[in-house]
Amino acid sequence: PDLLWRGHQLHYLFFFHDLSPGSCFFLPKGAYIYNSLIEFIRSEYRMRGFQEVVTPNIYNSKLWQTSGHWQHYSENMFSFEVEKETFALKPMNCPGHCLMFDHRPRSWRELPLRMADFGVLHRNELSGALTGLTRVRRFQQDDAHIFCTMDQIEEEIKGCLDFLRTVYDVFGFTFKLNLSTRPEKFLGEVEVWNQAEKQLENSLNEFGEKWVLNPGDGAFYGPKIDIQIKDAIGRYHQCATIQLDFQLPIRFNLTFVRYSLLWKRPVIIHRAILGSVERMIAILTENYGGKWYILPESCILCAHLTTRTGSAHQVRQEFHSAGLMTDVDLDPGCTLNKKIRNAQLAQYNFILVVGEKEKASDTVNVRTRDNKVHGERTVSDCIERLKQLKAGRARNAEEDF
Ligand SMILES: *[C@@H]1O[C@H](CO)[C@@H](O)[C@H](O)[C@H]1NC(C)=O
Ligand SMILES: *[C@@H]1O[C@H](CO)[C@@H](O)[C@H](O)[C@H]1NC(C)=O
Ligand SMILES: [Zn+2]
Repeated sequence: PDLLWRGHQLHYLFFFHDLSPGSCFFLPKGAYIYNSLIEFIRSEYRMRGFQEVVTPNIYNSKLWQTSGHWQHYSENMFSFEVEKETFALKPMNCPGHCLMFDHRPRSWRELPLRMADFGVLHRNELSGALTGLTRVRRFQQDDAHIFCTMDQIEEEIKGCLDFLRTVYDVFGFTFKLNLSTRPEKFLGEVEVWNQAEKQLENSLNEFGEKWVLNPGDGAFYGPKIDIQIKDAIGRYHQCATIQLDFQLPIRFNLTFVRYSLLWKRPVIIHRAILGSVERMIAILTENYGGKWYILPESCILCAHLTTRTGSAHQVRQEFHSAGLMTDVDLDPGCTLNKKIRNAQLAQYNFILVVGEKEKASDTVNVRTRDNKVHGERTVSDCIERLKQLKAGRARNAEEDF
């Protein structure tokens, strides 16, 4: 039974333990979902010119003083002493990315530089405030920072919006957009703000989805686009971020060389689409009621009583070698019909029956969770088709095997 998918029962995906409050343990199926989400974003990164980096988890508090987090955010950070100096676990990736940008002189030819990081983040939420996967202490984000010139903002924001639509279309979410502009208390020059806001407006207009102006609601360090997704039961969630930042490049004195001697300041765009992977898993699980359409490859092999277990294991091994998540139910105390029924209740997308007949012809008999029977397929056809469904992230996979 532990093998079963049970995508609708959260405790089969993950759990929490008192010995590490707010930090989730993902069980194999939960980890599979976690990694699949990251791999989905990663595949988009490859097409969209983002470069993945890996950065440290702990930094000397001097870094946080430079970024300004120490002054405003230190009570939310886990800090500790190492060799008489104070260090802290990172609550966000941006300052580390600034060090990476500043690692060597940068030319305008390198911009826009799109740095992506799935690094582990920690925030010291009070234990009383922790609630399941939606409020945690340990999480990862599909975080990226785009370092660009003032003139590149419009194009980059268009790219961010298109990326966001691609991901939310796959998940089946609609979304709402606000443009939040210069607040009363702001840093920097009005000119710069105006120029940036104009470009954000152009990007939004060209994007073609409805958006609303929310004047004065930007952050003190830059304007932003607020995004809310709508789930299947009509609730709104804020997950994605598209935030301009004029201040961090100043705090880190980040520069690039435009002509041989003239240096200029880049702008940073903070952006994420899933936001916290942990929280997105909570939203998706509820949204799908455990039916993971976006993982069409989740399937189980059910063997006839008479089938020798070796052949079912062998078939499973072929599926695993092809990178497909496949369980196997060989319970001798359970009839085939009962196994199929159990597998449907456990929300496997496909149920593949391996019997004597199928074994002889190297085939499996395919049916769906909703009992649509697709019939006999060779093992290799089946693997090929599941790989296609996985790559295409088809949402009507069950109809169209
Ligand atoms: C846009 O702003 C309005 C007014 O502040 C707010 O009610 C709404 O929730 C915001 N929408 C988004 C997508 O953030
Ligand atoms: C900032 O960087 C520029 C260009 O590299 C340099 O000329 C300037 O001295 C730096 N400013 C500070 C305060 O370090
Ligand atoms: Zn950031």
